[in-house]
Amino acid sequence: MRHLPLFAFLAFLTAVACRTTTTTTTTSTGGTSTAAIDDSDCNLSTPLQPGVPGSPGNLVKSPRNPNGDSELALMMRLFVDDLQKARALAEAGEPIEKMYPRHKRMRCAWPTKPEERNAGFDGRAQGYLAAVRAFDDAPGKTTYNAIVANCIACHNVSCGGVLEFIGSMQWK
Ligand code: HEC
Repeated sequence: MRHLPLFAFLAFLTAVACRTTTTTTTTSTGGTSTAAIDDSDCNLSTPLQPGVPGSPGNLVKSPRNPNGDSELALMMRLFVDDLQKARALAEAGEPIEKMYPRHKRMRCAWPTKPEERNAGFDGRAQGYLAAVRAFDDAPGKTTYNAIVANCIACHNVSCGGVLEFIGSMQWK
């Protein structure tokens, strides 16, 4: 299947975003060394700015979600869009803009529940970002699916409500 069926995405959009269901933890794949990566501008100890769009009390309201979305939730939707575009370009053998410079902001974005930004989350985010860099360096099915595996690995721990949708993103 070349593209995700539109209906699946629309169904997802109208579904509840992030019910918390905790299942077993899987090991993330695609991780490479983070040693040489300069993450000083955005890491677990970077203070989050109160009052920015998507921060507590400043959720971004939309027709889709009148309750408002957090900065991290909006970023997750950017991930979905980016991955769909990247996969289409990879299949067509066309150049792809690197995703890491945008996605790395996940480590310093406000989640709906601020306490979810903790060491466990950050470690899983780093595993995910290593997979994103591997795809950026060598776009293809294997590196793409390693990204999706890391989405799933984190969502197995937090935000299980969208696992089925993420599973549908795998490049078969
Ligand atoms: C390191 C953990 C982590 C990784 C990796 C991760 N997510 Fe998430 N995701 C979360 C958390 C936590 C939330 C809840 C955000 C909130 O409510 O503030 C979330 C929310 C979401 C949502 C719901 C957004 C909404 O509308 O509320 C979607 C969809 C999603 N993630 C998809 C993905 C996809 C696709 C990937 C991989 C490309 C991914 N996630 C990678 C932790 C992660």
